[in-house]
Amino acid sequence: MKGVISMALLALLVSCQPKSSQIELESTQAEKLVYNNCSTCHGIGDNDLGSAPNLNAVRKAWLEAFPKEDDFIKNMAHFLGQPQVEYSQMPEAVERFGIMPKMGYTEEQTMDLAKWLYHNSVQEQQQETVSQEENPLEICRSIALATKAALGKQLMTQLKQYGAVKAISFCQTQALPITDSVSTAFEAEVRRISNKPRNRLNQANPEEIALLNSWIEEVKKGQQPQAILIEKTDHILGYYPIFTEEKCMACHGNPSREVQQKLDELYPNDLAVGYSPNQIRGAFRVALKKE
Ligand code: HEC
Ligand code: HEC
Repeated sequence: MKGVISMALLALLVSCQPKSSQIELESTQAEKLVYNNCSTCHGIGDNDLGSAPNLNAVRKAWLEAFPKEDDFIKNMAHFLGQPQVEYSQMPEAVERFGIMPKMGYTEEQTMDLAKWLYHNSVQEQQQETVSQEENPLEICRSIALATKAALGKQLMTQLKQYGAVKAISFCQTQALPITDSVSTAFEAEVRRISNKPRNRLNQANPEEIALLNSWIEEVKKGQQPQAILIEKTDHILGYYPIFTEEKCMACHGNPSREVQQKLDELYPNDLAVGYSPNQIRGAFRVALKKE
């Protein structure tokens, strides 16, 4: 697995400390999530990646809004589980980037993350003392999130600058090249798959459709679908759920006439409309070579 972890990914990972007590175990896991996952969109240290507000800036705004630990943890965990504009403490960030995508963390993870962020600021140098525990699921999650960040950032820019109709052409010509470029950067193959694809190249196979259907059922029951790994002979497949959000609706909900016209023109067999927010739209499929 070592060969698979490129420098780019290494920069996202963090040391794992001795796990001596339950409290430390929790904070270590939260810390890893912060440096592995949150950092793919949120700049850490003084960095600004341009796809989400800097995490220390987020922390500062939340500490001002919720100086008491209990309030801070409760409210932030709630936001992380189900990001919604009503719970945002940074309206200008929502305006600029769109509301944070739902990540599918468990309740335990969101509580741990909130607690960790209450007590710790996010240090740049921490990221460099890297020693990666070889956990394929977390590697796949990082790669899926990096793809999501790359696509999401471009999409928001396109939507704001040119509107939905023109942004469709962007998705048509750029979505696959962007996922390919992430694949190259991480030496893994990344694709998006769906049971109701717009582009036939993204059609899920029967095994994947079964997985997507089980996630759809979980969402209906109010549960959080989890990323999973499937081992094949010479590679490992990681599947990471893709949820619809408000900002997807222009093209995947009930599109306007103009948008529908453009979709009919480019995708006569389009299946990817009629969604509402917070539904399973598909999955990131990350293939890692076994060594
Ligand atoms: C895929 C990109 C992405 C990832 C990964 C991500 N975020 Fe965000 N997050 C955003 C964006 C974009 C915003 C700004 C919009 C908003 O405030 O909802 C945001 C906002 C937030 C906010 C709320 C700011 C407000 O509006 O008050 C918090 C808290 C937050 N993120 C914490 C986290 C934590 C903790 C993680 C890791 C567990 C994380 N984020 C991972 C994209 C991401
Ligand atoms: C401006 C219109 C537009 C918006 C907004 C949009 N999409 Fe898409 N989406 C497309 C187009 C066009 C394709 C087909 C891309 C291709 O041909 O490779 C696509 C394809 C996809 C696919 C690949 C599977 C398939 O159906 O071919 C997924 C998954 C997806 N979109 C999810 C999302 C999510 C999640 C959002 C919101 C965060 C979103 N899209 C927002 C236009 C859009």
